[in-house]
Amino acid sequence: MGKVILTGDRPTGKLHLGHYVGSLRRRVQLQDEGNYDNMFVFMADVQALTDNADNPEKIRQNIIEVALDYLAAGLDPAKCTLFVQSQVAELAELTTYLMNLITVSRVQRNPTVKTEIKMRNFEANIPLGFFCYPVSQAADITLFKATTVPAGEDQEPMLEVTRELVRRFNQTYGEVLVEPEIMLPENATARRLPGTDGKEKMSKSLGNCIYLSDSADEVWQKVRSMYTDPNHLNVSDPGTVEGNAVFTYLDAFCTDADFAEFWPEYACLDELKDHYRRGGLGDMKCKKFLYSVLEKTLAPMRERRHGFEQDIPAIYDMLRQGTERARETAAQTMDEVRRAMRINYFDDAELIRSQAEKYRAK
Ligand code: TRP
Repeated sequence: MGKVILTGDRPTGKLHLGHYVGSLRRRVQLQDEGNYDNMFVFMADVQALTDNADNPEKIRQNIIEVALDYLAAGLDPAKCTLFVQSQVAELAELTTYLMNLITVSRVQRNPTVKTEIKMRNFEANIPLGFFCYPVSQAADITLFKATTVPAGEDQEPMLEVTRELVRRFNQTYGEVLVEPEIMLPENATARRLPGTDGKEKMSKSLGNCIYLSDSADEVWQKVRSMYTDPNHLNVSDPGTVEGNAVFTYLDAFCTDADFAEFWPEYACLDELKDHYRRGGLGDMKCKKFLYSVLEKTLAPMRERRHGFEQDIPAIYDMLRQGTERARETAAQTMDEVRRAMRINYFDDAELIRSQAEKYRAK
């Protein structure tokens, strides 16, 4: 059986560095290594609507932003299928059948859903569609028979639900669906990049993001005002590296080659950290270095994005084609699903024959 990668993002805003280190960078590697039979990356607009039902315009505007970010980061529609969730109707169909194989209390135990309900103040009034999104996500994964889902730790509960549903489905109706595994980011820094304010997570609502589409000047302004060590007041003071956003970002991004190129006084990040800890190293120098390091990744992406921005209709066209390709796989799996559930009435000759027999005998 083939290996299939599938992953996606809710198109609720432009993608930022947290998305990049947490998943986008890895996806591009996986795509380029080509060790998988098929790779799907999609915009989960249906899922985004589960908590934005009153603002579809927000989702509508962000499909193109996410598509541009994908292309800028290096996802290549010749190597992976990029598609839009809502335009694959089979996803809604499979979701409906999967919902019968899981209980309300099982979904209620999902810790990610619990946290999100709190964050959105949904406690008293949870939209049913929002509540059911883990099942819809299981359909996203299983409709494409994905074996591998590159995603953050917060998605592990969704994968557990998915595996349970696969087992339930296959036991009940026969082996059709495939149990997926999560592929987590390779290290702790990549799992959760803090915001520029040092808060635990980079997030649009906290206003602490560096976007992949920020201009060089915006990036510098954000890096310049980044949270460091609040007790590191004078250059001569000893500084703390832990919880210091500048160093966390360097952990996530810089290589020894960056030192050779931009700051040859140090051979590697450990040397820089030692100096910072000893005292005598100012924040501004570190920030300038971080800016150069970030720009090495961001500048080419910005340039590529600018190129793609010149032909927006072509991007929608690419998404339409990707969606059509995704629908071919989707239709095939749905066919198997209907057959396994024996709800393929119209092409079930045996059913028609036996019913005819039954009534003839009367
Ligand atoms: N829940 C994911 C997020 O919030 C998006 C998503 C939807 C997804 N369906 C998926 C991710 C299927 C991986 C696989 O980012």
